[in-house]
Amino acid sequence: MACSVLARRALRLSIRCHAIHPQPQRLIPARRTAATYASPHQAAQISEIPTAVDPNSQTYQDNAASMSSLVEKLSHLHAQAAQGGPEKARTKHRERGKMLVRDRITALTDPGTSFMELSALAGHELYEGEEVPAGGIVTGIGTVEGTMCMIVANDSTVKGGTYYPITVKKHIRAQEIAQQNRLPCLYLVDSGGANLPHQADVFPDRDHFGRIFFNQARMSSQGIPQISVVMGPCTAGGAYVPSMSDETIIVQEQGTVFLAGPPLVKAATGEEVSAEELGGGKLHSEVSGVTDYLAVDDAHALVLARRCISNLNYPSIPPPNKAFKEPLHDPAELDGIVGTNLKQNIPMHEVIARIVDGSSFSEFKPLYGSTLITGFATLYGRPVGIVANNGILFSESSLKGAHFIQLCCQRQIPLVFLQNISGFMVGQDAEKGGIAKNGAKLVTAVACADVPKFTVVVGSSAGAGNYGMCGRAYSPRFLWTWPSAKTSVMGPEQLSAVMEAVGKKVDTGLRDRIERESDVLFATARLWDDGVIPPSHTRQVLGMGLDAACGGSVESKETKFGVFRM
Ligand code: COA
Repeated sequence: MACSVLARRALRLSIRCHAIHPQPQRLIPARRTAATYASPHQAAQISEIPTAVDPNSQTYQDNAASMSSLVEKLSHLHAQAAQGGPEKARTKHRERGKMLVRDRITALTDPGTSFMELSALAGHELYEGEEVPAGGIVTGIGTVEGTMCMIVANDSTVKGGTYYPITVKKHIRAQEIAQQNRLPCLYLVDSGGANLPHQADVFPDRDHFGRIFFNQARMSSQGIPQISVVMGPCTAGGAYVPSMSDETIIVQEQGTVFLAGPPLVKAATGEEVSAEELGGGKLHSEVSGVTDYLAVDDAHALVLARRCISNLNYPSIPPPNKAFKEPLHDPAELDGIVGTNLKQNIPMHEVIARIVDGSSFSEFKPLYGSTLITGFATLYGRPVGIVANNGILFSESSLKGAHFIQLCCQRQIPLVFLQNISGFMVGQDAEKGGIAKNGAKLVTAVACADVPKFTVVVGSSAGAGNYGMCGRAYSPRFLWTWPSAKTSVMGPEQLSAVMEAVGKKVDTGLRDRIERESDVLFATARLWDDGVIPPSHTRQVLGMGLDAACGGSVESKETKFGVFRM
């Protein structure tokens, strides 16, 4: 069944696990199994991927049960984080006539469209004795007046919306996504500025607070609109968010912008002045000119923000060239296929079949370097090149990966990496075969590829395999993880063995710590990803990422590769 892009956009989509959204109606044809084909190789080359999955098997049932209990756990954590700060702070917030941060975003975005929230579990158990739900800031991609925008909204119920180190990191990551994808930025500002006890970790370094304003200036200079809505305090450094925006709205008798608040002014100059007189909406809209529009309340301010976006005359996202079909095989089956035990092999063809249009896949070099699957497909009608692990990376698979990435760059085809990698092959044979230089070719290709890249960590993300498969350091436009994924240099057993080999006594404490540090919650709390998604949401989330990447006036960039060591 061909679906229109609009119909898909109307799907409620969120990367928060607790929101399980309706799937569009699909026609699922009778199953064909791999056995229908003469050989697995033959099956692999036929473009419609067959399935060998038996939903009645014990393994499938066990896998589905373990994955759904993990998804439920994450769902619960997402729901908790979405509440924001403590009840007392939320009540105070509402009593002031202010809307809660997520209600603001709902009012800002077009009805019936999706808001793709990013890193909703940032800050989870990050600071001892301090809870910072969602890192104190909500970021994500939403549609406003038909334009895809990056929304960055402080949650002032979390310690007055002040910036912890993770808040700064999340704000800057949102700006990075906006810059790479040329998304207009909407800042809903309601923050006391730097979280002072953490000042050393938020103030001076390159990617600290100052970078936010640097990014605003640079994006504005690149023609990426910057719009602010002042809905609470913007104190000290925070005053530069509205002051460096292209257009700024302020809520009267609620929003304030000043370099120093009344207590500091009194201490510095002896002057006694109220916050409203010092930097309120009327002053800034009528006298100083720091703000451009005065709103009577939150709801009015958000209407004005929508109007600002409607006046941008911003290029709209080009629609895909072709109609598309939903996958032939149900994405909800991914839970039962994959499970949570990473010692089990993940059948990547089955995974790809539940992500791409019509489960249709033109596999490239299926008979060579088969521990890496490469091939062409479409996602919601947009072409993509898939690079997926199917075992350890050998010289052959690395060379094949580098070759395929070159093809995609030459053809301007975005790349989707499905990561389940324990690393490159080790040992004498591998070294003799030049695994170091061949692996390096893959890493070079990934690093230099100037097409949009997307990474989904579906299993392990270990060792240099993380690099070769477009880990965070390789600047994928988005990186999402599945609930059972694990990210670490190596597993606890291997790490302990290495430490013992270099003469260190290893106790269970170290093993437990490595286990905890490899967990998806540890990773997402630190913003090593853009969020944890249930496997069944992968197609939708990638679709929205692709839409974002195709937006703005993205000029096609020619990839220039570095030296490939032969
Ligand atoms: N750093 C760390 N914590 C801060 C903070 C800051 N800059 N500002 C406020 N907090 C904490 C408060 O201690 C309080 O913590 P608690 O809930 O554990 O008691 C919580 O945030 C809420 O503050 P509160 O003053 O009760 O809430 P409010 O909504 O009435 O006011 C502010 C919020 C941000 C307007 C107000 O606290 C303020 O003006 N803070 C100072 C801002 C400042 O000067 N920042 C300098 C930036 S360089």
